[in-house]
Amino acid sequence: MNHILHLTSPSDALNWATERHREGSSIALVPTMGALHQGHAALIARATASCDLTVVSIFVNPTQFDRANDFDTYPRTLNDDLNLCAVAGVDAVYMPSAEAMYPAGFDTSINPGALATRWEGEHRAGHFEGVATVVTKLFTAAQPDTAVFGEKDFQQLAVIRQVVRDLGLAVEIIGEPTVREDDGLAMSSRNVRLTPDARKSATAIHRGMTEAIRGVTPTTAPSDITKHVERRINEAGGTVDYVAVVDPNTLEPVTTLEQRSQLLVAAWFGDVRLIDNATISAHP
Ligand code: PAJ
Repeated sequence: MNHILHLTSPSDALNWATERHREGSSIALVPTMGALHQGHAALIARATASCDLTVVSIFVNPTQFDRANDFDTYPRTLNDDLNLCAVAGVDAVYMPSAEAMYPAGFDTSINPGALATRWEGEHRAGHFEGVATVVTKLFTAAQPDTAVFGEKDFQQLAVIRQVVRDLGLAVEIIGEPTVREDDGLAMSSRNVRLTPDARKSATAIHRGMTEAIRGVTPTTAPSDITKHVERRINEAGGTVDYVAVVDPNTLEPVTTLEQRSQLLVAAWFGDVRLIDNATISAHP
C-alpha cells in the first residue's frame, strides 16, 4: 500500500504541487466529495495511468448543495476513503476544511452561463456556480496537468469543460464512463441512503433508459424515448424531475435523432434524488 500524503490547506497543496512540477512530475487530480466507491476508483485508475502523480481531493463542498438536509446527510466515510486511495496508489489526498476553502470575506463565484441554467441547474439553484467555483479553486491549489471527471454527472462534465475553455485553464479534462452496480444502477455516494425497497425500484432508471434507446433509428421521435423512461420510473414508484434528449454539447433539447444525442434523467426514489444518462446512437 502507498504511503499517502495529507494536504489540508490550499497553500499546502500549492507548495507540494509546485515542488513536484519543479522536479518534472506531472499531476492528475480527481476531485471528489468522498464516500468513495468503484466509480471514483475508475477515475483514480485513469488518473494514475495518465500522470506521474495522482491527487484525490475530498471536500464536501457546502456551496453546491441546494438543500441543507442533503448536505447534512451526505455520507462521510473518511477512513474507508483513505484506504481506497492507498490501495489505488494515490500519492496525495487533498482535504481542506471549509474554513480553509471559504475564509471570512470570501465572495467570488464563477457563473458557467447558459449550460448551467438547464436541468440540474434549474432543479438545484446555484449548484453549478458552487461546482465551478470549487473546482477552479481545487485546480488553483493542486495545479493538475490532467483532471478526471465522471460521465455519470454529464452536465457537470460539460460545465467544467466550458469553464476550462473560457478561462483558459491549462488543464486537460478527461471524462470516464459511468460505473454501475450489477443490476445497472449507476454507482453514487447517495445510493446508501436508499431504503431497500427504493434501492430495488431505482433500477428502473437504467432499465428504462436501456429499453428506450435500444434499436432507435434517426426517425425515432425523442419524445417516444422520454415518455418510455418516465413511464418506467413512475411504474416503479419514483418521481421524475426531468427526462430529456439533448445535444451533448449545448445540452439543449433535440427534436430529431439525426444528430448525436444524450438522454438525461433525474428522479427521486423516496427522499433520494438520483441522476443518470446514456448516449443515444441512432446510426447503427
Ligand atoms: P462526487 O459526487 O464525489 O463525484 C466525484 C467524481 O466521481 C465526479 O467526477 C463524478 O462524475 C464521478 N462519479 C461519481 N459516480 C460515478 C460513477 N458511477 N461512475 C463514474 N464516475 C462517477 O461530483 C462531485 O463529487 C463534485 O461535484 C465535485 C466535482 C467533487 C465538486 O465538488
